[in-house]
Formats: sequence, C-alpha cells, structure tokens
Amino acid sequence: MTRGDEMLGDLEVSRGYQQNAAYWERIVRQRLDKFQTEVTDVALLDLVGDPEGVRVLDAGCGEGYFTRELIARGAAHVHGVDTCAELIVAAREHPKSGDSRAEYHHADVADLPLPDASVDVVVANRLPHGIADPARRFVEFRRVLQPAGRLIVLSMHPCFYAARTDREGIGFASTIDDYFGVRTVQQRFHVAGLTSPAESFQQFYSLEEHIGMITAAGFAVTNLREPRPSAEQRQSDTFWATNFTRPLFMLLECAPMVAR
Ligand SMILES: C[S@@+](CC[C@H](N)C(=O)[O-])C[C@H]1O[C@@H](n2cnc3c(N)ncnc32)[C@H](O)[C@@H]1O
Repeated sequence: MTRGDEMLGDLEVSRGYQQNAAYWERIVRQRLDKFQTEVTDVALLDLVGDPEGVRVLDAGCGEGYFTRELIARGAAHVHGVDTCAELIVAAREHPKSGDSRAEYHHADVADLPLPDASVDVVVANRLPHGIADPARRFVEFRRVLQPAGRLIVLSMHPCFYAARTDREGIGFASTIDDYFGVRTVQQRFHVAGLTSPAESFQQFYSLEEHIGMITAAGFAVTNLREPRPSAEQRQSDTFWATNFTRPLFMLLECAPMVAR
C-alpha cells in the first residue's frame, strides 16, 4: 500500500520496529534476506572499504550485525545508534558484543549523543527517512563527522521502490504529485516465507529532495551506485527474476564540504 496523504509520526515508525524486533533479529541473524546478504551488504562493504583503525557511526544499527562486521574487520570503534530499545538490547546481548570497541546507544539519529568531529565514517544502512524533520539527521551526521570523513547511505531507491503489491511496470505505481510530494509505503516485511507481525512505514521523497537534504547539510555527493544482482546471480538463481524486476536500492557516498 502506498500512502502520501496521511501524517505519520516518528513514533509510529519506531513502534513498528518495536513490534517487529524479534522478527527482524531472526531475519538478520539467520541471514534469511537475500537482498541484504547477496546484494546490499556486498555493495555497502565494498564502498566502506577497509575499516581498519576507523571510527564509525552505524546510524539505525538495528540488532547490530553491521557494527559487529566492521569490528571484525578491524574498525577502531563503532557507535551503533537506534531508537528501538528492543533492538539495542539485542545488539548489546549478542554473544560477540563483548568487544569494547562496539558501543550501542538508544537514541535518535537526529539527536546524536556523540561529540563534534568524533567519527571518520557514518553508515546509514537501510535507515528509513525521518518523518517530523527528515533533514535534521544529515545536519547531525555532518556535525559528528571529521572534515575528511565520509557519509555512506544505503536506502530504498527513491525513484523506483514501491510497495510489493504495487511493483508493476518500471516506475513507481503512483502519480507525479506523489513522486514530488511525500509518498509513504506501508507494508509488512515478507522474507523467506516469514511475515512480520507489524507493518513498517517508510517515507519517500523525490530524488531531488532526497539529495537536497544531504547537500543542504553541507555534503557533496561523490559516488552514486544502484546495488543489484549481477548477471551471474540472475542466471543461477530464479529468485531474482521474480523479486528484482526494478531498481530497488540506492547507495550514496558523500563528503563534508569545507567552507571556502
Ligand atoms: C530497516 S532497519 C535496519 C537496521 C540495520 N541497519 C540493518 O540493516 O539490519 C531500520 C532501523 O532504523 C531504526 N530507526 C528508524 N528511525 C530511526 C531514528 N530516527 N533514529 C535511530 N534509529 C532509527 C529502526 O529502529 C530500525 O532498527
């Protein structure tokens, strides 16, 4: 279902994740989501590069798998931040979370409990847009990044992503006013035959608006990728023929602009 005309609060987004916390933890920890394990993680890790000695913010860290992955690859310190208390508890209680280089915060990415210029890389991995003040988080990301740092944002594709039931044709199944306004995709997750107990809400902005929030916060976009299964993956696994019929993801790398 796609909605663009009803006001949703950040609270409603968080409540959805709270109700889906156990489901989400299972999907991620059992590596059931092929979009994540075979497409987006591969692209994200490639763009992050070698995190040896790097200080990272994992914005909207969920149950913490990406934080653990970066620590395992040698990151100096990773701050995981999430508004869902249940997922922060899950992250802290993971058997591999004893490493003091991983620190989890129950907080909003629009109000980060971190000092200025204290991280080298901010990663927002499948973090949904904010609702009340969607641009605010990018200002916070700019504040906590050191001047030579990088912001990496993996999101659903602003132009092509649509609710599963609306995924016909190439473009989004919506009007031009929806595209240049705000569209809300509201649906349950369906992964590997498992349906989430609650619906998730995601708000989408046009490409211009999406990039505009980032550049207005003081970033330059330095790289744009559209993660997708390779030709070999599509040939060897029929899953992709039915489940990847349009571009679903967008990956951005951004650099803080230095005042001239
Ligand atoms: C789709 S999940 C992705 C979690 C994790 N990055 C992953 O890829 O498994 C989105 C996460 O963002 C969190 N989130 C949503 N809005 C947030 C906000 N304003 N501040 C911090 N976390 C937020 C949710 O609680 C949820 O854990």
